Amino acid sequence: MAARPTSFVLNGTLIDTPTPHALRVREGVFCVVDDGAIAQICAVENEVAERYRGLPVVKLAETQMVVPGLIDLHIHAPQFKQLGTKTDIPLMEWLQKYTYPAEAAFASPSHASLVYPKLITHLLKNGTTTAVLFGSNHLAATKILAEECAAAGIRALVGKTCADILTPDEYVETTADSLRATEEFVEWCIKKWGGGVDAIVRPVVTPRFIPTCSSELLKGLGDIAQKYNCFVQSHAAESVDEEALVQTQHPGRRDVAIFREAGLLGDKCVLAHCCRLRDVEAATMQEVGATVVSCPFSNILFARATVPIPRYNRDFPNLKIGLGTDIAGGFGTMLDNMRTAILQDRVDSFAAVDRGASAEVETAEAEPATWTVDFKYAFHLATAAGARGLGMQGLLGTFEEGARFDALLLDCGLDGGEGGGQRFTRFGDEGVAELFEKWVTTGDDRNVVRVWVDGKVVKGG
Ligand code: GUN
Ligand code: FE
Repeated sequence: MAARPTSFVLNGTLIDTPTPHALRVREGVFCVVDDGAIAQICAVENEVAERYRGLPVVKLAETQMVVPGLIDLHIHAPQFKQLGTKTDIPLMEWLQKYTYPAEAAFASPSHASLVYPKLITHLLKNGTTTAVLFGSNHLAATKILAEECAAAGIRALVGKTCADILTPDEYVETTADSLRATEEFVEWCIKKWGGGVDAIVRPVVTPRFIPTCSSELLKGLGDIAQKYNCFVQSHAAESVDEEALVQTQHPGRRDVAIFREAGLLGDKCVLAHCCRLRDVEAATMQEVGATVVSCPFSNILFARATVPIPRYNRDFPNLKIGLGTDIAGGFGTMLDNMRTAILQDRVDSFAAVDRGASAEVETAEAEPATWTVDFKYAFHLATAAGARGLGMQGLLGTFEEGARFDALLLDCGLDGGEGGGQRFTRFGDEGVAELFEKWVTTGDDRNVVRVWVDGKVVKGG
């Protein structure tokens, strides 16, 4: 068989996290990638099936390892230019003062063509291989976003953002235009990339959030999502100011119930933040199979609240929870958000102790250590859990036979000295699992020396 660029054999260490607390380290294995998918993983070379014997072999160094690519479930593509700035005022003011004007600029396709490739470069460089993206309200710019994703080879779920009320004049849409453009975008994506579960770009129905969507728009978007059986993304239960606004618009009602009534809440729905979810809402999301996207950086900055992951695991064991950066409400990378998820977990339990809230303290103390978000669990959230949120468990997020090969080659043996290629110092006697842990906790993009999506190199040599 002729070797295709997406067919090769890796020989070295694979690390993944099939469950929150299982770090699976397979040292020295042979991983056959055939036409972008994992065809075989075996311990010794002579177990490699005959038909793969002629493929090129990529041999990893002792300090290198291959890990699943990161899955970022929540990104605002048109906010990328303001990343790292303007996070100094509450959410609703931030939207009005900075964010809607920044997004309105994407009425210009040339602005989209300038910004979006830079975002995609930033994502791939930092190890994100699957991105769930809000575009702007504009159809043309969102098509550019989708095309740039496909051209760069990043796996993407892309939505044209919808907002027909409570949005500045220069950015608001009519209900009819919003629905029409959404349906056109969904059809265009399906026609272009097939719409299958492993299509490189898939469309997402994207009501911005309850406050900027009329009931008619929500209902129409629910109909489109059902007609095309596609993903839905939005924000829910984010912050005190958002919650208060929903109360004025829909007295006595809350986000999750409103999405459900519009036909938007199902197992293809990913809802960002969910920091202020009531338990009945978490139960509803668990029941229908919707995903909570914890965005730890942004949640701390804007929501001043967190997603209580360990408690949800105890009380709602089947609730899907993944991780997102919320660029640019959050200014961290996926690595930053993994670390913040770890710290946030500890702070949540401190807070219960500090307040002397006896019931909570007892709960916190009664939690088995296995519920704690540690480096393994944080990586699981960024990979396998994200894949589950996208209905792609077994296809992404872990290394299994039959999975797509979306992966990162980490090199933790780079010179850590002055001007060196990595952030942490090495002593030379670390095992590969320890090096991986150091990458999760203290490494950065310099350790990500190659990135594959569908077996294709999309970053690095
Ligand atoms: N709610 C509605 N729009 C946004 C947004 O752009 N970012 C965040 N964090 N929350 C939102
Ligand atoms: Fe957001």
